[in-house]
Amino acid sequence: MSPFLEASPLVQARGLSRIYSAGGWFSAAPPVAAVGKVDLAVERGEMLAIVGESGCGKSTLGRLLLGLEPASTGEVRFEGRSLRGLPAREQRALRARMQLVFQNPMAALDPRLPVGIQVVEPLAIHRSLAAGANRPAIEQLFSAVGLSVELAGRFPHQLSGGQRQRVVIARALATQPDFVVFDEPVSALDVSVQAQIIALIRGLQRERGFAGVFISHDLRVVRHIADRVAVMYLGRIVEEGPVASVLAAPAHPYTQALVASVPRLKRAPGGARLRLKGDPPSASAIPPGCAFHPRCAAAEAVCRGERPALHATAPGRSSACHFSALRKPAAPPFESMRL
Ligand SMILES: Nc1ncnc2c1ncn2[C@@H]1O[C@H](COP(=O)(O)OP(=O)(O)OP(=O)(O)O)[C@@H](O)[C@H]1O
Ligand code: SF4
Ligand SMILES: [Mg+2]
Repeated sequence: MSPFLEASPLVQARGLSRIYSAGGWFSAAPPVAAVGKVDLAVERGEMLAIVGESGCGKSTLGRLLLGLEPASTGEVRFEGRSLRGLPAREQRALRARMQLVFQNPMAALDPRLPVGIQVVEPLAIHRSLAAGANRPAIEQLFSAVGLSVELAGRFPHQLSGGQRQRVVIARALATQPDFVVFDEPVSALDVSVQAQIIALIRGLQRERGFAGVFISHDLRVVRHIADRVAVMYLGRIVEEGPVASVLAAPAHPYTQALVASVPRLKRAPGGARLRLKGDPPSASAIPPGCAFHPRCAAAEAVCRGERPALHATAPGRSSACHFSALRKPAAPPFESMRL
């Protein structure tokens, strides 16, 4: 690898947007801006969490980063090379290095095939694995995710939810990817199983060194798995930084409200226990100015007219609020917020 590629982030998004035409391009329905002008970078070996309410664009952003979804504007670079217009052969090679783990393992697995075969499928596709080499590969992958190889002959419906998600993780890791997007991988699981799968993903990531994006709406989960966190609101990143620092002292009023809504997270001193009320506006009718202003009682006139850019507020931290740099993050304006 050239020194230039070594120096660039593993995955980088620049001005990345995805706009869906509701009901087709000839429909009168307004388009849906699922992701808007996102800039982000994922370094080798790090785990970046993406959090936000339902419909804020987390899954769309995850698919864009993997090149599974075409960008409306902007681009994604992998090791410094744009995914746009890559020749088919290179796209296939990259496919093996970038993987996706879904929320619902039942939907990700073929109900008619034994899970052992499904785990090594990517090796057959990308590495032309010989049929006779299946068994050692299955054993190695099952052992890596803490599954007994005796389960390899079973069908998905014969496994528990946690076992199925381990199978899906094993399959995603079969080609030893450099980058994995985990899209809500534990939200369909019981709480006790969630903790096991989170520990498994974190352990595998440290051992194998892949970089990841971990999509979640649960800040308690994010705290345990991520190095950095990006908070999304209506398609845009509104706050980003090291996970411990952001959760301890959120700078953006939206992040402050998310943190305050989780009883077990440590709140800023004096911070009231507030809940984020109401649903966000539709992604087809994003408010002008700061998209959060209709729910933010800290909003001032400038918030309704000017969209705040994501800007540095401290080393490694950024926030898209007109007042983030001026307000002390440790003492958020909770009392004045209409959340
Ligand atoms: N294929 C599509 N066609 C039209 N609109 C879409 C499509 N996929 C997503 N959307 C819309 O884009 C917005 C973002 O959706 P997305 O699934 O990325 O959000 P999310 O944050 O992952 O939500 P959730 O937490 O519920 O999974 C939503 O308004 C959604 O309705
Ligand atoms: S820019 Fe204004 S409306 Fe937006 S989060 Fe900051 S204070 Fe609230
Ligand atoms: Mg989603």
